[in-house]
Amino acid sequence: MCGIVGYVGPRASEKALDVVMEGLGRLEYRGYDSAGVALVAPDGVETRKRAGKLANLRAAIEEADLPETATAIGHTRWATHGGPTDQNAHPHRGGRDGKLALVHNGIIENFHSLKGRLESEGVQFTSETDTEVVAHLLSAAFERSGDLTTAMRETVADLHGAFTLLAVHSDQPDVVVGARRNSPLVVGLGEGENFLGSDVAAFIGHTRHALELGQDQIVTITPDTYEVVNFDGTPSDGKAYEVTWDAAAAEKSGYDTFMEKEINDQPHAVADTLLGRTDAEGNLTLDELHIDVEELRAVTKIVIVACGTAAYAGMVAKYAIEHWTRIPVEVELAHEFRYRDPVIDERTLVVSISQSGETMDTLMAVRHAKELGARTVSICNTHGSTIPRESDAVLYTHAGPEIAVASTKAFLAQITASYILGLYLASLRGTSYGRDAAEVMAELQGIPAQIETVLAGMDRVKEIAYYMADSRSVLFLGRHVGYPVAMEGALKLKELAYIHAEGFAAGELKHGPIALIEPGQPVFVIVPSPGSEHGLHDKVVSNIQEIRARGARTLVIAEEGDEDVVPFADEVIRVPHTSPLLAPLLTVVPLQVFALHLSTAKGLDVDQPRNLAKSVTVE
Ligand code: M6R
Repeated sequence: MCGIVGYVGPRASEKALDVVMEGLGRLEYRGYDSAGVALVAPDGVETRKRAGKLANLRAAIEEADLPETATAIGHTRWATHGGPTDQNAHPHRGGRDGKLALVHNGIIENFHSLKGRLESEGVQFTSETDTEVVAHLLSAAFERSGDLTTAMRETVADLHGAFTLLAVHSDQPDVVVGARRNSPLVVGLGEGENFLGSDVAAFIGHTRHALELGQDQIVTITPDTYEVVNFDGTPSDGKAYEVTWDAAAAEKSGYDTFMEKEINDQPHAVADTLLGRTDAEGNLTLDELHIDVEELRAVTKIVIVACGTAAYAGMVAKYAIEHWTRIPVEVELAHEFRYRDPVIDERTLVVSISQSGETMDTLMAVRHAKELGARTVSICNTHGSTIPRESDAVLYTHAGPEIAVASTKAFLAQITASYILGLYLASLRGTSYGRDAAEVMAELQGIPAQIETVLAGMDRVKEIAYYMADSRSVLFLGRHVGYPVAMEGALKLKELAYIHAEGFAAGELKHGPIALIEPGQPVFVIVPSPGSEHGLHDKVVSNIQEIRARGARTLVIAEEGDEDVVPFADEVIRVPHTSPLLAPLLTVVPLQVFALHLSTAKGLDVDQPRNLAKSVTVE
């Protein structure tokens, strides 16, 4: 939540504003309640900020006669403290001289008491934000030391909560200082210029050399140098790495929206996540493993923690991992896990799933699990982000940057990675499925082409979305791995089209939800393969008949050649045949496409739905 960018370039570059605006454009998916910039010159700091999307700030900048500077910071906001107004937009100024400007991502939990103290000292506030408190504290600290890094160290010692802060001061015009605790910040290393950003997208148009920061660290950048210290003042090196994707990956590449592009990227997301997963002996491997394999063999329980779409990927993972490893698997929303009293010990493996690697609820769940003695594995799409850094083992998904707020390709990559994890654990434990891992991996290799086939047949789904644009409620039914797919289909529709939508386990229908069915009620049904165990296919076909008999409009997702559904379906959407456990990689695709086009048909902003932000970095 909130995107922040900082830049220092050569004195003569005069392009700081352009670099920061370009970075904000790439980070807008992190928050779009307001946007602002601060430009730093020896004679002062100039700020511009506007409520609403970045376009409003762009218009304000075009009208203004702003100074040309080589140093700037910028911010896109997802509002927490104080509404989305010009006054509450960042940057915030500190001190009576206004020489300091600050942007912030996160929440300062003790801001109220700090604000009271400052007010009693005569400080006047111009916003309702927690951030302005920090700006004044930092300004006062700067007056004492005359150095922004020292002032930042002094200030963060007073703060509770989660924060990334970037500050500039006109007395040090070619310096930007950043600080992070429980909130993301990456350094971009250029030649004669350096960058800071909430994620690498902020500077990917300029450099792919990045530096990971640790927890509780401060970084100071100038055009030619960077310096990292811990909050206690001890020096640190940071961890340098190369970003593996380029600016083109973070652009729409001819599609109207990022979401449409990302849906079409899914064959690559799955294929790339499958790449390079075996060692020279043909054994499956993880990307980073700091757990003794004997400990992994001794695991008695797996708990998957995640939020939103990632949690639905976790639900799919449960079916596969239990089946292949015979280890009991629980799936829990990360925010619930932490606040109850979970039964966890050193033989529990806690698997977190997160696209961003920064979701605060998931991060806190991982930390809680570690405190309770569990071993932790992270499935994550963002290299070097906090959750994988703090986990004992990591399996990276290779979906590339996901910019649309609604998650699509990350979901498929997360499911793919969790299959790999399940097969890896099964091989370690020597279950029969472990020995068959190569066969499952071979079938997975064929999935990208099957996703292409599904995508090629989406014209009718698009038409259905357009004629259903006035729907007030849509239900989704699934069974076994189709159940989490139903939940994901409903989530996509809620967040993109603002339509009431619910996903149910088809077996639950007669225990209550069938009362919702009235004539014309649209219901998507995800039908298991006719080859599924336990006759699940026939049971779901019976469910379709039950709701149709009560007037539901049935939109059925079924395998090619499954003719049993035809008499009871108003629409049949076909997917190729797969093993039942792998089917979610195909059956979810029409639901994503449906939500995308229904949102478009309603004239809504597909990539930036209301009230949301891409990565939820506050609790
Ligand atoms: O970055 P994460 O995968 O941890 O994010 C988890 C959820 O916030 C995310 O999946 C959210 O539900 C998406 N907006 C769903 O489309």
